[in-house]
Amino acid sequence: MEIPIKSISINVLIASIFTFLPLLANAQEKVANQDIQQARALVNAFGTDLKQVLITAIKSEGPIKALMVCNIEAEPIATKHASLSGWSIARTSMRVRNEKNTPDEWELAVLQQFEKRKIAGENLKTMEYAETVKEGDQLVYRYMKPIPIVGACLTCHGINLGDEITDKVKSLYPNDQAIGFKMGDIRGAFTLQKIMN
Ligand code: HEC
Repeated sequence: MEIPIKSISINVLIASIFTFLPLLANAQEKVANQDIQQARALVNAFGTDLKQVLITAIKSEGPIKALMVCNIEAEPIATKHASLSGWSIARTSMRVRNEKNTPDEWELAVLQQFEKRKIAGENLKTMEYAETVKEGDQLVYRYMKPIPIVGACLTCHGINLGDEITDKVKSLYPNDQAIGFKMGDIRGAFTLQKIMN
């Protein structure tokens, strides 16, 4: 029996698609893997720098001056880390102190997802979320990691702030929503993005 040429080539085509698809998927996975590793490294470096600056300021000048430091320094520290790498890096929260840090729609959905995962018992230390999203005609790789409240945060984000801190916060941030947190709460998240194309 004669096998028509056309059907052979279609079979070959189909076979090759199934052969190469997994390879392609693998390559994409590798790229995504590199992205998530870069994002994790940046969050670590940014987080460590922020904490260092804050702790040093509180120790040497007290929380009121530190409040100014936190106010002034977070952005340049973020810019320093971002400019090294092509990523943009910031902090956001469902209850912001600085309105510049208000989440966009995607960030808000992820923050809500983090709260649900926390209630379900997931550890904040390893929690993260990454997704490639289409924005206009650009593909953007986005990554978020929750920031937990630890003891050192309570001076400025806790339930019982001192009068002096309360006054200073109110004067700098009249619409502040970032008080009343308890140990282990999700204060907010690091949010990173990188344009893919
Ligand atoms: C000395 C006071 C002080 C301490 C201590 C402090 N913060 Fe803040 N925090 C601030 C101020 C002021 C801002 C607003 C910064 C700005 O204007 O960008 C802020 C902003 C933030 C933001 C950005 C979102 C927003 O609400 O604008 C996050 C997230 C955050 N703090 C988390 C923490 C965590 C976690 C700790 C403990 C490790 C902590 N902070 C300790 C004063 C403080």
